[in-house]
Amino acid sequence: MSAENTELLINLVYVVSAVLFILGLKLLGSPATARTGNLISSGGMFLAVVVTLLDQQIIEYEYILAGIVIGGLIGAVIARMVEMTSMPEMVALFNGFGGLASLLVGWAALSVALLTATAINPVSVFTLVTIFLSILIGGLTFTGSVLAYGKLSEKISGRPFVYSGQRVVNSLILIAVLVCAGLFIQDPSDLNWLYLAVALSLVLGVMFVLPIGGADMPVVISLLNSFSGIAAAAAGFAIGNTLLIVAGSLVGASGIILTNIMCKAMNRSLSNVLFSGFGAVSSSTSTAVIEQGEVKPLSAEDAYYILEAATSIVIIPGYGMAVAQAQHVVKELQQLLEKNDAEVVYAIHPVAGRMPGHMNVLLAEADVPYDLLLEMDQINPRMDTFDVAIVIGANDVVNPAAREIESSPIYGMPIINVDQARTVFVLKRSMASGFAGIDNPLFFKENTRMLFGDAKETLGKLIKAFD
Ligand code: TAP
Repeated sequence: MSAENTELLINLVYVVSAVLFILGLKLLGSPATARTGNLISSGGMFLAVVVTLLDQQIIEYEYILAGIVIGGLIGAVIARMVEMTSMPEMVALFNGFGGLASLLVGWAALSVALLTATAINPVSVFTLVTIFLSILIGGLTFTGSVLAYGKLSEKISGRPFVYSGQRVVNSLILIAVLVCAGLFIQDPSDLNWLYLAVALSLVLGVMFVLPIGGADMPVVISLLNSFSGIAAAAAGFAIGNTLLIVAGSLVGASGIILTNIMCKAMNRSLSNVLFSGFGAVSSSTSTAVIEQGEVKPLSAEDAYYILEAATSIVIIPGYGMAVAQAQHVVKELQQLLEKNDAEVVYAIHPVAGRMPGHMNVLLAEADVPYDLLLEMDQINPRMDTFDVAIVIGANDVVNPAAREIESSPIYGMPIINVDQARTVFVLKRSMASGFAGIDNPLFFKENTRMLFGDAKETLGKLIKAFD
């Protein structure tokens, strides 16, 4: 095939791939079509990789194939082995490696550009700027994501690390990076400015994530995801690859949209998430303002009598359901309650669990019909009509302190108002706090009953009582 025809074929397939990416993203919007969406987007990426390998400038394939085989194997093994609850950590690492890849592509593009430049035909400022951006944003994304991974996996403390003057220090580092950029673009042959900028961008990634607490990590990961897309788009400009620009822009835009959705779900601004050191308040401080009452434990056998008489029940799953892997027994209980002529629905909080859509994925795995899953805004107005709200391993997302205690660090965060149901069952193992490390006044409310124990075991006992 002539070089021109190959070029045409590559570009045509790129257009098809871009369409498949967009279609895939659209299908990801609903749990019913998400799996197909994922497959379609992966198909688009596969096509893109295959035709990119036809590029005439590739002189040897050995290293590329070795990279694909080794990288593919590692990725497949990790994806197979990872627990559902550790998925956000994996996403954080993937973002980081995406950033690192953009940094390396930018660097390689620079080496090629400098090698081919002549006095009459120097590297253009546009190319230098895009190369610099891919290196800078890629580096920042890499270290920021690795730190986010460490915090989420609790390999390092998830507590926010804040000190006075933090914003000033971060701003100074950013200014220093921009100065290096200016000096480097003026004289690209002096690579020292670039090395310094790379080092500073790596430091900036760490400084950016350090003050952010564990509870805000999903928002940060989504933002870093967006950054990795922007870095990839910049790398696409640097090497003149249209599809990399398209794919990077899609990742950049969807990451920022998800970040925005999550901030809204927590009723906080992005700057509050990034700079407030949320979660720095110790749990004992928040305990002091909580009006303590009496905790009323209930046995599964006694809970059965209440459930048996109930005609409308709402189930609120949280992170504990994922830990207990209780989704299948939840579905069994739902079916028994329905057989008993009760209406059963699920209330899903946008940040329940540890990743966006966590609860939806688990309930889908147990074949719970999608139309039974209601969002917070749909369920809250009718919460007082439910006989029983069963909270399964959820804590922060049902914490009324967000509504009632102005000094609480989560004050203003929209929650599922389970305390407004006639009776509330809370299934958890102890009085321990949730991810945000904050006490929960729900446990002391007049209409709350605590069913202590592993959620799967407690649900098993309830199911047994129905048999
Ligand atoms: P959490 O507030 O983290 O509470 C989970 C509760 O589950 C804990 O209090 C724990 O209490 C209980 N639990 C753990 N294992 C259990 C088991 N085997 N059986 C029964 N209960 C068990 O969860 P949530 O309400 O879903 O809120 C999510 C939190 O995570 C929010 O703060 C959110 O911001 C944050 N976060 C969200 C995401 C996303 S995007 N969804 C990602 C990262 C972090 P015991 O130890 O007493 O059992």
